[in-house]
Amino acid sequence: MHRADHPPSRRAFLDVTGVTVAAGLLAGCSGDSARSARSGDPAPSAPATPTPATPAPATPTPVAVTGRHQAGVTLPRSAQPHLLALVADLGARVTPGPLLAELGEAVRTLTAGSDPRLLGLFPGDLTVTVGVGPRLVRAVGATLPGAADLPRFSRERVASRERGGDLLIQICAGDALLLPVAAAALLDQAGDRIQERWRQFGRRGTEVPVAEDRSAPRNLLGFIDGIVGPHTTAEQERDLWLAGPPAVANGTLAVLRRMEIDLTRFAALSVAEQEAVFGRRRASGVPLSGGSVDSAPGLGAKTPDGRYLVPVDAHVRRANPTVVGVGHMLRRSYSIDAPAPGLLFISFQNDLRTFTATLARMDTSDALLPFTTTTASATFLILPGYDPGSPLGSTLFG
Ligand code: HEM
Repeated sequence: MHRADHPPSRRAFLDVTGVTVAAGLLAGCSGDSARSARSGDPAPSAPATPTPATPAPATPTPVAVTGRHQAGVTLPRSAQPHLLALVADLGARVTPGPLLAELGEAVRTLTAGSDPRLLGLFPGDLTVTVGVGPRLVRAVGATLPGAADLPRFSRERVASRERGGDLLIQICAGDALLLPVAAAALLDQAGDRIQERWRQFGRRGTEVPVAEDRSAPRNLLGFIDGIVGPHTTAEQERDLWLAGPPAVANGTLAVLRRMEIDLTRFAALSVAEQEAVFGRRRASGVPLSGGSVDSAPGLGAKTPDGRYLVPVDAHVRRANPTVVGVGHMLRRSYSIDAPAPGLLFISFQNDLRTFTATLARMDTSDALLPFTTTTASATFLILPGYDPGSPLGSTLFG
């Protein structure tokens, strides 16, 4: 994953240049348009682009919502700039199967632009990703992946309403206007079968190229966020997608943590102190041990006087999957401004322990954590992909 085979000129360029030039490089590097670099390649089965009522100036590429996996995890390849995460509970007597099948069908018509509830807006790269909470999974099987609640950790201030939940609807799009409209359509579809608990809007910062075919956004601490993760198909099969049992195969486990950040206190640090918190350079994302932005942090590298270049409590050391002894999580977080500035941390992994063991290790000593307070926390089984012959949720609740 950590590629060491870029031509030297390109690597040097990525290391020393700022965001703007580097973003231009991404747009031009593959010969594709800036548009497809931003939105990712459409999967072969992507639906035909619907005709918009009024032509949009920059039209994001539609994302295939049906298939082996749901969209909104690895597709589009660069996550869309805007997100609305909506968490709800199911009524006590509601059977999940029919509700999920209807929601899946509504997602299909919304993303195809054929749902009148979209009010003629162009869906572009809209994706909707649906997950179910531990209570619903346990009702099918107590040992299934997704059946376990997320434990509590330090530095939490979570109201009971914002802990857990039965249903996650993650809506992402290039056009922020689509989010509340799609959410209203899906809530309308569900009717009184669900009660909303909380919702969170998020925004990705400027995307910075971090590998030949990949970019990651800056977060509101100014650092590039989302560099390390399962990015190749083989890594995703190993660490991201659930291999079984059949009821959950090709799904994944999501963790959502709304983390408020004490921006003022962080901004009062010198740049070198900020970089020591993460273990990476702020401008370039390069590990403090050197190399390029996609080099693995050299955790053994030391200064001549014997100090670690990546400090012992640096975030990238505490969270390093090899040190923790877990697989890679796919982080797809969004920056937030309300109810307070911070990060809606979102990770996807095929073993909940990947997240829990990482945060448990961060809890004991991670220079980043004292700047954070977690105010919402939940985990969901992201349901396997679906198509008209096998509706959303049918493998688990059919
Ligand atoms: C406000 C909260 C957080 C912020 C701002 C943040 C930011 C970052 C940044 C900037 C990096 C370095 C670049 C990269 O690889 O993406 C990073 C790495 C990482 N973070 Fe976080 N993070 C936060 C919370 C968390 C949490 C809660 C977890 C999981 C429990 C986590 C897991 C990781 C992992 C696994 C890495 C990669 C480490 C490596 O192998 O180098 N982060 N994070």
